[in-house]
Amino acid sequence: MKKHDSPVPLYVQIKDYIRLNIQNGIYAVNERIPSERQLAEQFGVNRLTVSKALSELTQEGLIYSSVGKGTYVSPAKIDQALQSLTSFTEEMTSRGKKASSSVLYSGVEPANEEVAKALSILPGVEVVVLHRVRMADSMPIALEKSHILYALCPGILENHDFSRESLYNVLRKEYHLRLTHAHQAIEAHTAGEDEREVLDAGPCTPILRITRVTYNDNEQPIEYVRSSYRGDRYKFYTVLRQID
Ligand code: GLP
Repeated sequence: MKKHDSPVPLYVQIKDYIRLNIQNGIYAVNERIPSERQLAEQFGVNRLTVSKALSELTQEGLIYSSVGKGTYVSPAKIDQALQSLTSFTEEMTSRGKKASSSVLYSGVEPANEEVAKALSILPGVEVVVLHRVRMADSMPIALEKSHILYALCPGILENHDFSRESLYNVLRKEYHLRLTHAHQAIEAHTAGEDEREVLDAGPCTPILRITRVTYNDNEQPIEYVRSSYRGDRYKFYTVLRQID
């Protein structure tokens, strides 16, 4: 099975073997995989080599360990297509998951330089700030801080409970705002202290930091949001076509 004379390092061969067993369902979701000792024996390598393979697979989000209990197969990542403008609630609902949020902060504040620039307003103009941990079936997935021009949605915070309601739904249905398109940038980081705490993440957990400005059909910016998605639980994909 393992090849000591292969140019592929042994720990990579072990990673590939475990990954293949997960893909083929031989190791099922939330089931325990063989221990470090068993794998070391099976491959005829030392435990450090196995430990390196397991630690990289953990960082990639394929497996997780439970202290003193062993290593288990993670549920598949949630994947989101990048072509459509959807809300977190819509994304989760379409996968049969229940979206919910924990509201860390909500209030009306004067826009700082960064927010003002993104929303094409002057600094100091009032904006609604909504800072939420987003959850799928109660599992923390992302941290999102949204900013919306207050004049577009007066009373929004008093009249809605954003621990269970969808922001986009309220903006569309109650304030008749047409959210038609967005500009979005995605960057990779490791989890910072604030993200670790609220997302229940470890120091090496990969984080996808996203900034999005959502516009209406008059090119007016409606929402500026900064998000941190757990890279071990979420992935984005896109369809690419050749340009004629
Ligand atoms: C996505 C977007 C955010 C937006 C949110 C609204 O997560 N990245 O920019 O604020 O959806 O979600 P919901 O309507 O579920 O509150």
